[in-house]
Amino acid sequence: MKKQFAALILAILPAFSFAAGPAVELDKVDIDLTDKAAMQDGLKTFANYCMGCHSAKFQRYERVATDLGIPPEVMMDNVVFSDAKIGDHMRIGMEPQDAKGWFGAAPPDLTLVARVRGNDWLYSYMRSFYVDPARPYGVNNEVFPNVGMPHVLAPLQGNRIVGCTQVQVVENGRKQFDPLTGTPITQEACDQKIIEPGTGTLSEAEYDEKIKNLVTFLAYSANPVKLESQRIGTYVLLFLAVFFVFAYLLKREYWKDVH
Ligand code: HEC
Repeated sequence: MKKQFAALILAILPAFSFAAGPAVELDKVDIDLTDKAAMQDGLKTFANYCMGCHSAKFQRYERVATDLGIPPEVMMDNVVFSDAKIGDHMRIGMEPQDAKGWFGAAPPDLTLVARVRGNDWLYSYMRSFYVDPARPYGVNNEVFPNVGMPHVLAPLQGNRIVGCTQVQVVENGRKQFDPLTGTPITQEACDQKIIEPGTGTLSEAEYDEKIKNLVTFLAYSANPVKLESQRIGTYVLLFLAVFFVFAYLLKREYWKDVH
């Protein structure tokens, strides 16, 4: 009963997380769970920038290496920074109590975060930190207001600050396009979040790609059997197709004399 209750809570959790906080529009991300290069890049980002604070403790290094087509030596040299062995779970050394003292909240395990929050949420969250001197780490987040996490990818993205940029004109809730050329009509707006020039090593498009890859890895991590079940599903359909032909022939044979 307890277990069922826990399962129910887990099942409706995403609905609550969605309901909480201000309704910011999430940016959509279209990920491809067969893109191993994307997942490898995501894993690299995760190991380098996230595993200082977040574990992925339901996942083993070895399983990830196998699924993503990474040779074990490469995995050990590039991803495993602790004294963990390849067969170990992806744990970290930080104690939750210490973390709570430092950040006000313990960094949650991220193995299943893509299932709890959703890919679009993660993609938007990692791109929505902005400079806010009122916060302890000098940053806030539009998707997760007053978050306890510092913007660890700021060296890549740069500082998001309020500034002026061209935005598309909206009239009566409709985006405006030039009727002749079809190009968006824009005007300057000075209450927009922009990247402070020269503060990040990646361009906006490159940063978005990096985060997309990170989300692809987290989506894989939350559902590592998905790849396998898709493959098995294909075989099942093929089997059914072949089986159908034989069943049909057999049926015809049986009914031949009846008609
Ligand atoms: C310096 C420590 C630290 C690092 C490094 C860090 N985080 Fe966090 N993260 C936190 C803390 C603390 C929280 C909890 C924030 C809160 O609840 O206010 C958090 C929360 C999150 C959440 C929200 C989880 C939830 O469902 O509430 C996500 C997603 C997340 N981090 C992703 C990442 C990713 C991806 C990276 C690497 C790019 C990363 N974090 C690196 C400290 C860190």
